[in-house]
Amino acid sequence: MSSTAPTALIAGASRTLGLGLAAEYARRGRHVVGTVRGDTRTGLHDLADASDGRVTVEQLDINEPEQINALRDRLAGRSLDLLFLNAGITRGDLSIADVPTDMFTDLMVTNALGPMLVAEALRPLVGGTARADHRRGNRQTADSVIPGNSHEQPASNNYVTRCQEYCT
Ligand SMILES: NC(=O)c1ccc[n+]([C@@H]2O[C@H](COP(=O)([O-])OP(=O)(O)OC[C@H]3O[C@@H](n4cnc5c(N)ncnc54)[C@H](OP(=O)(O)O)[C@@H]3O)[C@@H](O)[C@H]2O)c1
Repeated sequence: MSSTAPTALIAGASRTLGLGLAAEYARRGRHVVGTVRGDTRTGLHDLADASDGRVTVEQLDINEPEQINALRDRLAGRSLDLLFLNAGITRGDLSIADVPTDMFTDLMVTNALGPMLVAEALRPLVGGTARADHRRGNRQTADSVIPGNSHEQPASNNYVTRCQEYCT
């Protein structure tokens, strides 16, 4: 394992897409910090156990600001090359007329506000090696996002994706 290998942080890596991404990044020689909620053992723990230290597991509920800050503090001194904010929820395939306000609020808090809070908190840990892939106005369901530098970009473009070089 190379200590200079790029490090990806994947939020929501307990299962499905996030776990698959963690496995693939590790297979390609990258370090991975994957996050899970709660204390239950997950597929990410199995992946970490078999990774020779390449994959580590952190706790994070993106709806809990104190957990976001605690993760930022635990990672202080680390350099990240990618934030992949995969954590998200769905609540079925309802017509908009059938979506209760509290359900809509839950979805927006988890799928929109949470990722922005995580990106903002962890931005200082992200190094400058990755190329920004600007996808203005293109909301993705599984985003790798970091906040762009506001002095370099207009406010409307403060959040940029930077996954492209990791996907090739
Ligand atoms: N799979 C698809 O075909 C597909 C299609 C369109 C969009 N998407 C979107 O892509 C994302 C990932 O999809 P998926 O299929 O991998 O979803 P999934 O199987 O439901 O996994 C979601 C992941 O997000 C985590 N998560 C949920 N709420 C969280 C929170 N508040 N804080 C931290 N982690 C949280 C889950 O953790 P727990 O294990 O603790 O619940 C899990 O690791 C989701 O946003 C989903 O809506 C997926």
